[in-house]
Amino acid sequence: MNWTSPLEADIRRRIMAAGPMPVSEYMALCLTDPAHGYYTTRDPLGARGDFITAPEISQMFGELIGLWVAATWKKMDAPAKINIVELGPGRGTLMKDALRASQVMAGFREAAAVHLVEISPALRAAQEKTLQGYSIAWHASLDEVPEGPAIIVANEFFDALPVHQAVKTAHGWHERLIEIDAIGKFAFTTAPEPLVRFDLLLPPIVRSSPIGSIFEWRDDMIAMQIGRRIATHGGAALVVDYGHIESDTGDTLQGVGRHAYADPLTAPGEHDITAHVDFQALARAVEAMGAQAHGPLEQGEFLRRLGIEMRAATLKSKAPIGAAAGIDQALARLSGHGRTEMGRLFKVAAYAHPSLGVPPAFD
Ligand SMILES: C[S@@+](CC[C@H](N)C(=O)[O-])C[C@H]1O[C@@H](n2cnc3c(N)ncnc32)[C@H](O)[C@@H]1O
Repeated sequence: MNWTSPLEADIRRRIMAAGPMPVSEYMALCLTDPAHGYYTTRDPLGARGDFITAPEISQMFGELIGLWVAATWKKMDAPAKINIVELGPGRGTLMKDALRASQVMAGFREAAAVHLVEISPALRAAQEKTLQGYSIAWHASLDEVPEGPAIIVANEFFDALPVHQAVKTAHGWHERLIEIDAIGKFAFTTAPEPLVRFDLLLPPIVRSSPIGSIFEWRDDMIAMQIGRRIATHGGAALVVDYGHIESDTGDTLQGVGRHAYADPLTAPGEHDITAHVDFQALARAVEAMGAQAHGPLEQGEFLRRLGIEMRAATLKSKAPIGAAAGIDQALARLSGHGRTEMGRLFKVAAYAHPSLGVPPAFD
């Protein structure tokens, strides 16, 4: 007998009551449903979890981001108070490594007030453990963070935000929905009516794409909040994620469980669902609020400019015998160009107040 999880039963009920559900609504329920969502109920990170992120691969990642944050604060003329905000901090590993490394910048730690924006009670508990001894404020959303100059960091946060999909037909773009098919399974379908005036919003390359193309977009709200904060109070944001530099078509929705691909339409809430980040759309939303976009750079290039090779050499010189190979592997994984490495797939973009000029590592 097939087992139906409470979340699957809830999604079925919703579809039967209201009709097929937009992909974005399905993704939001799968990831952040308050009772049964994937992130809400567990810590999925690490070698024994479902996937591993850059800060969990090596301390070098968080340390170099910490140096970037401290150097950006210095470039802002070292304000006496600065909000250091991380969106979706996972286990808190990046922030812990960043705070340790940023001690090298005199005055930074005294100026910094750390704010973590986390929706998941399970991951917030993990962050509290990792960051014991630090003074931290937690928030459920960015708009709860006090106003003021800020440096915002987000690693693999935007790819976890719900994505909409639309399919191009001879009669226009139709939103992609999820229905229950004839054999009772979740399946993709499209809305009967086309999206109104949707074409006008699309970049030319997407507008001229062939019938059957899929276009993905996200709600701009968080990107606009970032842009508004930076433009109003000063500061910068650093976004690291996998995605495309220019808006384009393509179905990038995927499930990930136990370090392998999983069908996003099966076992909702039991594995991760992600979609690539459209960096051009992010930049457009942030710039609409008055901040300036820089990059994106490939992650490998960004980390090399910040000195990852030197940091790896220092760590190796102090490491116990036998640990050097692990450091080399981490270096390759974070900055290499291979298919299973992150150096090319992941991109890093910065958004800054125009008075800041070019942020560190982006010149
Ligand atoms: C893929 S994990 C990345 C974790 C961490 N940044 C890292 O690199 O290890 C996504 C993170 O974003 C959080 N998250 C997802 N949606 C969120 C939302 N709408 N608001 C706040 N946090 C969210 C998750 O709980 C998790 O901490």
